[in-house]
Amino acid sequence: MKEKLQSILEKAMAEIKGSQELDQLESSRVKYLGKKGELTVFLRGMGNISPRERPVMGKLVNEAKQEIEVLLKEQKEKVLALEKERMLREEEIDISIPGKRFARGRKHPLTKTLDEIKTIFMGLGFSVAEGPEVELAYYNFTALNIPEDHPARDIQDTFYINDDIVLRTHTSPDEPRVMEKTKPPIRVIIPGRVYRADDVDATHSPVFHQIEGLVVDEGITLGDLKGTFDLFVKKLYGEHMETKFRPSHFPFTEPSAEIDATCFVCNGKGCRVCKDTGWIELSGAGMVHPRVLERCGIDTARYSGFAFGMGLDRLTMLKYGIDDMRLMFENDIRFLSQF
Ligand code: DAH
Repeated sequence: MKEKLQSILEKAMAEIKGSQELDQLESSRVKYLGKKGELTVFLRGMGNISPRERPVMGKLVNEAKQEIEVLLKEQKEKVLALEKERMLREEEIDISIPGKRFARGRKHPLTKTLDEIKTIFMGLGFSVAEGPEVELAYYNFTALNIPEDHPARDIQDTFYINDDIVLRTHTSPDEPRVMEKTKPPIRVIIPGRVYRADDVDATHSPVFHQIEGLVVDEGITLGDLKGTFDLFVKKLYGEHMETKFRPSHFPFTEPSAEIDATCFVCNGKGCRVCKDTGWIELSGAGMVHPRVLERCGIDTARYSGFAFGMGLDRLTMLKYGIDDMRLMFENDIRFLSQF
């Protein structure tokens, strides 16, 4: 009997020590200590032995059982430790590998300039509005007092969708759009994309950007336009900047002007950029034509207004010293990442 017990114990010990997995250990436990396990069966078989020997054998069987239990526990800990070590090894993160570089986007120079311009005008009490790029010919021309035979209406200059609808050629149509909806006082800038049938070169693009400005209130004069625009230019380009008005003509303003500013390449001395004049043209402007106001139901006996329209692309090119307009629209990262 003793030998039988000894052989079960040795077999169990060898088996448990050789186990590398928790499953194996569990089946060893069942195999020896379970209800039908070898040791349990052995214990039951003890009914056959003499009553004298029984306590001795009982003790031996219990010792064997305990030994197996202890060994199972120890081996289980070993297996778990090994498993943990393996996982740590396999899941190790190599912190010496350089991280993935994420290309970080930034604002387009046009957006940066526009943001600055918005901030300046908002500081002067202006709000910012927007209008449709696909526009009724009525707003683009008629409401702005642009007569039927005006060259701006020519199909060669303008993308017509049909007789009544055009891709807006300027942001000025948003002046009557705002005036129809809003009662004076009005102080608004309207930035947006505009379209003209121009060929692409260093200073032209069929798609470009304008910012319209409109102020309508009691007692508005050309002096307000001059003061507002001068302040704007100084804020955008620096206090040393000066502005001057040149007489011009637009059907929707009377009187009309082109506003020039000090050439900031040569600071007014004269250079290639300003064609030796010392001045750079920045904007069309004028006092809103009474006919335009009246069409929008504004009482011209009480109200007057000024307006201006300037090219954002040009303002941006001048600000950053960009000499080719095409760069603005090609989306070349090498160019854009400089801003
Ligand atoms: N819309 C004109 C253009 O595209 C520019 C302009 C001139 C806008 C005078 C105005 C203005 O508001 O008063 O050439």
